[in-house]
Amino acid sequence: MDPQEIINDLQHLADRFDDSVSALATEQQIRDLQASFLGKKGEITILQKLLGKLPGESRKEVGQAFNQAKQRITTAAGDAIDGLVNREASEYLDRHTDLTLPGRAPRMGRMHPITLVMYDIVDVFVSMGFDVALGPEIETDLYNFGKLNFPDDHPARDMQDTLFIKEGKTLLRTHTSPVQIRTMLEKPPPIQIVAPGAVYRRDDDPTHSPMFFQVEGLLVDEGVTFAHLKGVLEAFLARIFGRDVRSRFRPSFFPFTEPSAEVDIECISCKGAGCNLCSGTGWLEILGSGMVDPHVLEGVGIDPERYTGFAFGLGVDRIAMLRYEGISSIRLLYENDPRFLEAFRR
Ligand code: PHE
Repeated sequence: MDPQEIINDLQHLADRFDDSVSALATEQQIRDLQASFLGKKGEITILQKLLGKLPGESRKEVGQAFNQAKQRITTAAGDAIDGLVNREASEYLDRHTDLTLPGRAPRMGRMHPITLVMYDIVDVFVSMGFDVALGPEIETDLYNFGKLNFPDDHPARDMQDTLFIKEGKTLLRTHTSPVQIRTMLEKPPPIQIVAPGAVYRRDDDPTHSPMFFQVEGLLVDEGVTFAHLKGVLEAFLARIFGRDVRSRFRPSFFPFTEPSAEVDIECISCKGAGCNLCSGTGWLEILGSGMVDPHVLEGVGIDPERYTGFAFGLGVDRIAMLRYEGISSIRLLYENDPRFLEAFRR
């Protein structure tokens, strides 16, 4: 047989494969066609058996022609199968996609109601000249209690209330008051800061969450009096709750302030008549405050003969519940159910 004739035959076979494959509609048909060319009894395989009979010098050239033809057929079969798959996919999409449907907007996140209220509170104090200070949530026993003049046997140090990390050494801060200590150790008076942040206690019921938020305030300078404290807090309450909300200062006790006062506002719900929210008293407690105890000033190296100061700590969750009337349980604020949080767009 003439080597050139075999080469021409191979050319024609590959051309014929190309022509036939384009008409096929399934992958199986394509594979069958491929086998009828390249399989055990395929046309090319049979032709290849003649290779041995060719004169030695032409074998190389004809061998190459075989490889090319097989390569062409294999590639054409692969391309044809890819084409089928793509066509099926786009037909599927055509059948199942309705381009006239409205798009789905991505769900937008928004700030948590507690965060919103905390920012509002901080804004009011910043407008009165307070700087913002922050402290760690993991505190030392010394800053959370010792330097705040808590005696060693004070009940708040008990395992009942405090989440200790290493008893007597480190703990989750039970209030933001240690930021007072950190600030006073860091710089001399005049000091005028607010410190927002999370605090932790071993409490868990409808009105108490084991984690909640406070905003601490501290002002230390020459000549600071209780009247300044009262003025600042009353201005604050008017800004947050409106001018006509009545408030009262009630004597109280904290180890780190002397004298101390808790501040109540007239119950938002019953306007003082007495209801469930205020346990019938007509008043709601929203913050603790007082004049910084001279022992505390001494403990951080500030001369109590020269300087005086006031401090306060308010519960953000409490104010949020009053702000957004109808939040019946503090848990709602921490469960983070998106349906609940949706209601606090701003
Ligand atoms: N740290 C006190 C508390 O958590 C509140 C407070 C702060 C009282 C500052 C007086 C002065 O209850």
